[in-house]
Parts: sequence; structure tokens; C-alpha cells
Amino acid sequence: MDIVILAAGLGSRFFAGTSKVMVDFWGIPVLEMLCLNALKVSSSVYVVVKDLSIVVPDGVVKILQEDAYGTGIAAQSYLKFVGENRNVLIIPGDSPLVDFNTLKHFSNLGDDVEIGLGIMKTPEGSEHYGRVFQENGLVQKIIEYKHHHEKTEYSNTGIIFLSKRVVDLLFNLPISESGEVYLTEIVQIAVNNGYKVKSLVLPYEDCLGFNTIAEFHSVLSFAQVKWRKKALKSGAIFYDINTVYLSYDTVFEAGAVVEPYTKFAPGVCVCSKAVVKSFSSLSNCRVNGVVGPFAHIRSGEVQEKAEVGAFVEMNRSILGVGSKAKHLSYLGDAYIEDSVNIGAGCVVCNYDGKNKHKTNIGQGSFVGANTTIIAPINIGKDALLAAGSTLNKDIPDGVLAIARSHQTNKERFSKKD
Ligand code: UD1
Ligand code: CA
Repeated sequence: MDIVILAAGLGSRFFAGTSKVMVDFWGIPVLEMLCLNALKVSSSVYVVVKDLSIVVPDGVVKILQEDAYGTGIAAQSYLKFVGENRNVLIIPGDSPLVDFNTLKHFSNLGDDVEIGLGIMKTPEGSEHYGRVFQENGLVQKIIEYKHHHEKTEYSNTGIIFLSKRVVDLLFNLPISESGEVYLTEIVQIAVNNGYKVKSLVLPYEDCLGFNTIAEFHSVLSFAQVKWRKKALKSGAIFYDINTVYLSYDTVFEAGAVVEPYTKFAPGVCVCSKAVVKSFSSLSNCRVNGVVGPFAHIRSGEVQEKAEVGAFVEMNRSILGVGSKAKHLSYLGDAYIEDSVNIGAGCVVCNYDGKNKHKTNIGQGSFVGANTTIIAPINIGKDALLAAGSTLNKDIPDGVLAIARSHQTNKERFSKKD
């Protein structure tokens, strides 16, 4: 089954200076998140865009919508592009919370059913969806809210499955009074042609779309509610889940402990022995030690029994088993082996203004406080780096490296006879 994500709308109700499908949704653009989730269930994922320079994940095929406006035109663009009738599931690009796993049911509607329409109980206070009209369990038509003000019990999610036998009815869609071509008209056309349109009720939490900034904020909050519910089933302990901010892909293993006021951007796995303390911000990392309070892990790994303390920033770095960087440090492009102690105020200088360079620190080494480590550099095992040193040469195993000026003590007060 092909999956097509419609993302070529003008977004004229979304005044944010950016295309609404490209807006950041807790660390990842809406469209990228939809594509990555779609790729988990189908290897043929298409996205209809109005600009081919939009970046989508590898494996997703972009299709340009050249013609005039409307979801119907977007769907026709897909069909023209693939050039043959295939089973297809169409998804609106502005519904970030679509759960693709539940959508597998759409391909098994039964032999005599050619169209499956995802419907939802009309959410309270948010009624700007297509109205769904049904008879005897089959959908008869959809009317857009602006043409039918009364609320119906069920609304159109925008998710629709067309079997290969009916997909070319897309070319029969009429142009509406406003000049738009509505994909939703396919329902009535199919019914008139003797086909059955079956509805599948989906949880509205999975189908909320957004057209305005206000709706966007409401979907953002909804996402946290949904992801927190999932996190609470992981077996991790949260002391105040309502102050924990998650991403669509945050993974918690049973046994992990998470304190209040913590943020997880995409790509984080909090492993079973991890403790994430308050005010820490994590992205793209795997953590199995103690992190925070006030730690910033941009990417990398904190292995078992390792500790990253207050005001420590890590980027593309690995902190080995039992290693500690407990206060005020920056670790960039650093591979730190096991049982290393990084003293307070250590800065790894990984950037020379043009390029990033790597640092290795061998097992059992002790890095004194306020050291400046200038990469590229290899520091052997059991080395001792004297506090306050600035180091830019490799340090062999078991060596004490001192790179600081000698102290001289002079009389402070001139002596008078
Ligand atoms: C659409 C449905 C509505 C449904 C709602 C669910 C139609 C006519 N209406 O309304 O019944 O309840 O979604 O959220 O389909 N797009 C294109 N090309 C275009 C126009 C839109 O690709 O020319 C894309 C948009 O980028 C967007 C999606 O299609 O991601 C939906 O378009 P939008 O204009 O937001 O439709 P709604 O008015 O919300
Ligand atoms: Ca919409």
C-alpha cells in the first residue's frame, strides 16, 4: 500500500512566516516526523509538495503539485506521478499525531469495500473539520464545515484509503465554488458509482490537524499528553510527568528515573539505570548513568555508572563506564574511556574556527580542574593532567602532564626598616 502525505497547501491560515508542514514540532519538522513514522509501516511513501527543495527523509519520494489549489489536486498529482492504479492511503500533512500502526487496518476493509474513511468523534471546541454523513454504517458524503455549519457527531480526519479499483475516480473530482478541488468529494462520487465507503473510527487524539497558530499550540500540548501517557507505561519512574517534555521517539526503559522539569528532544534513549535530574535537556543520546541537574547533552552517550553533573555540556561525546564530569565542563567530540575523572571547569576545545577535532582520554585518567584540552589530542591511560593546564600535545599512558606557569611568591608589603 502506498502512503501519500499531502503537504502542498498554501497554509494561508497559518501566519508564522513558514510553511506549516515544516514548522518545528517538539524538535522535528511536522512533515519529517510524519515521513519517518510512515516509513516504519510502508516502503512506498510519497509526499506532495509545492516546492521540491523541501527536504524529506531518505526513501520518501517528493511529487510536485503544479496545478491549482485543493486536496483533490494534490491527490491527483500523486496519481499522475505513479502513472498506474495502486492501493493508496492518503494522509493530511498537517496532522502530526497520526498513528501509522493503526492505519494498517485500512488495507483489509473487506472484498466489496473500495474506500475506507478515517473518521473521529468531533472534538469539543474544535469543529473545523469536514462533516461526515453516514447511513447504515456506510459513509454517504462529506461536506466541509464552511458549507455546513451544524456540527455532526463524526468528522473527517482527512485520512482516506482508496483501493486500486477506485483510485482513478480522483480524476472526476469537481471544482468547488471557491475554485478548490476537494478530495472529500470522492466519497459521493464513489457512492454514485455503486461503491461502498466504510468508516473507521480513529481516536481523535491521533487525528488532530492544525490550520492556525492557535490550533498548532493546542496540537503541541496534545502531543505531550499523548506521549506522557505512553511514557508512563514504560516502567520508568517520573516524579512529575506533567513537567517532562518529550519527543515523538523518546524511549524510556523500565527502571529509569526522571526528575521534574526535564526536556527530551528527538533521538533519546533513557536506559534502565539512568537517572535524569531536574533542568536537564537531552537530545540524540543514550543515557545509562546519572545526568544533571542542569546538564545539557546535545548528542552522545553516558554509559553505566557515569555521571554528568551541573552545567556540563556534552556534544558528540562518549563518557565511559564509571567516568565522571560533575561540574561546569564542555566536552565536545571527546571519547572518554571508563573510570575517568574530569575536574570542574574542564573545557575540550574541539573547534578551531573551521573544523572540529577529536579528543581521546584513556581509561583511569584524572583530568584536573580548569584544564583546557586542545583537540586533536590523545591522552593515554592513567594519565594525570594538572589543574589549570592548557594541553595541546599527546600525553602517553601513566604520565603527569603539567602545562602552566610556575608560581612565584613575593612580599606583598614593602618592608620598612
Ligand atoms: C481537510 C479536509 C477536511 C478534514 C481536514 C482534517 C478537504 C477538502 N478537507 O480540511 O474534511 O476534516 O482536512 O484535518 O480535504 N494540501 C495540498 N495541496 C493543496 C491543498 C492542501 O497538498 O492544494 C495539503 C495541505 O498542505 C494540508 C492538507 O493537504 O497538509 C490538508 O489541507 P487543508 O487545507 O489544511 O485542509 P482542511 O481545510 O484542514
Ligand atoms: Ca488542515
